[in-house]
Amino acid sequence: MPRILSIESSCDETAAAVIADGRTILSNIVASQAAKHAQYGGVFPEVASRMHVEVIYQVVHQALTDAHLDLGDIDAIAATRGPGLPGSLVVGLNMAKGLALGRNLPLIGVNHLEGHVYSLWLVEGAPEVRFPVLCLIVSGGHTELILMTGHGQYRRLGGTLDDAAGEAFDKVARLLGLPYPGGPSVEKAAQGGNPAGFRFPRAWLEGTHDFSFSGLKTAVLYEVRKQKPGVPFGPDSPPLDLTQVPDLAASFQTALIDVLVGKTVAAAQAYGVTEIFVAGGVSANRALKGEFERRAACPVRVPPLFLCTDNAAMTGAAANFRYLAGQRDALDMDVLPNWRLV
Ligand code: KG4
Ligand code: ZN
Repeated sequence: MPRILSIESSCDETAAAVIADGRTILSNIVASQAAKHAQYGGVFPEVASRMHVEVIYQVVHQALTDAHLDLGDIDAIAATRGPGLPGSLVVGLNMAKGLALGRNLPLIGVNHLEGHVYSLWLVEGAPEVRFPVLCLIVSGGHTELILMTGHGQYRRLGGTLDDAAGEAFDKVARLLGLPYPGGPSVEKAAQGGNPAGFRFPRAWLEGTHDFSFSGLKTAVLYEVRKQKPGVPFGPDSPPLDLTQVPDLAASFQTALIDVLVGKTVAAAQAYGVTEIFVAGGVSANRALKGEFERRAACPVRVPPLFLCTDNAAMTGAAANFRYLAGQRDALDMDVLPNWRLV
């Protein structure tokens, strides 16, 4: 029963966890910087890496304390190697190297997207996974549709050609004057809105498993402009006082979810998968989950809320299967800010 101490610092969460056997969360600490970055309306990379430096020791220490373990009880150290912000990744990876070196423990570098996929192995009481499964990874930086045929075996079916789904939520939130992070703000605003209030475009990209959300984002921008003619518009323009924010938010969210769910369900049927796995920050969206449950012909697995957004438990779950497969990384391993899963 390997016990893995894992670290995640790819963006603006400093996180550490202890995972037993790839399935049991013994501890899971997340220190979020969101409140700080909200001042800038998005993640400020240099601020992010320096904030990781400040808290990482305490976060790792707390993960061991919560698990009632010390380093002598740990079998391997894992950290996110990429993709992510280089300056942020370096902090977590170097902490992991220090621990591995100090205790002569195996070191395992983990792909952040694989971590999101393996968050689904941490769902309590879920049935054993039977491959193939279809993974929809929807986060701030990625939207990927991936066929998973075994542990660590992926075939990319498609992905976004422009904005990631979470990025579209974040950008639309800014257009609507809603606070960072945009996903939860838009979801909240949408609850009071009419999803049919505005007829926004859906890019189906027929014959492919790709996505595109920039047209949808631009349609929201044009609608906002129409309502406030003469207001100078750019990424740094002041938030607009719009009376129709709930309808705009609900119509945008409905259009985005319509495409995400429609295309994923179609791919699931085409490839005859046993289950659809949805992971990454946007999987926290309740409307997305509800729509999948309504439209999918197969079971849909979504992580509990605390495992949707970035955390180190998922990193540990992915590291566990890599550990069992014999992966050991060297102390000169570099971060891979643009690392693709497949
Ligand atoms: O996976 P994650 O925490 O970090 C990355 O790997 O990027 O995903 C963050 C993204 C952000 O774009 C955020 O706006 C989005 O996930 N997000 C949501 C929700 N919660 C977070 N999007 C839609 N609805 C939500 N409830
Ligand atoms: Zn993520």
